[in-house]
Amino acid sequence: MPKLTVEGFPTVEVEAGKRLVLAIEQDAHVDVLHACGGNARCTTCRVEFIDGEPTRSTQAERQVLAAKGVTGVRLSCQITCDHDMTVRAVSRLTGSGRPDPGPTPFPDITPPPVWS
Ligand code: FES
Repeated sequence: MPKLTVEGFPTVEVEAGKRLVLAIEQDAHVDVLHACGGNARCTTCRVEFIDGEPTRSTQAERQVLAAKGVTGVRLSCQITCDHDMTVRAVSRLTGSGRPDPGPTPFPDITPPPVWS
């Protein structure tokens, strides 16, 4: 099983193929935001990769990051845990002023991923 480390938190093992946003929240127990419910619209699920950044990305991720002019981060809702990863959770409920992290994303990546 892939290992996930969120900086400052213990390393956990994650079910292979699990969405990173869900692994951060449910396995690493870090309060990552997902305001749009994992649909590549809000960018609140953004993380910085310290190690193991995936080389592939979804078309939806690339489009929303480009549209918002955001660089140096990846959208955890658009990534699956298929190898070991170390990330920095830079967008958390704590300190956000939001009442909740957002709707829980579906188990599979949405919208249906177009990889490249
Ligand atoms: S872009 Fe909204 S949860 Fe990922």
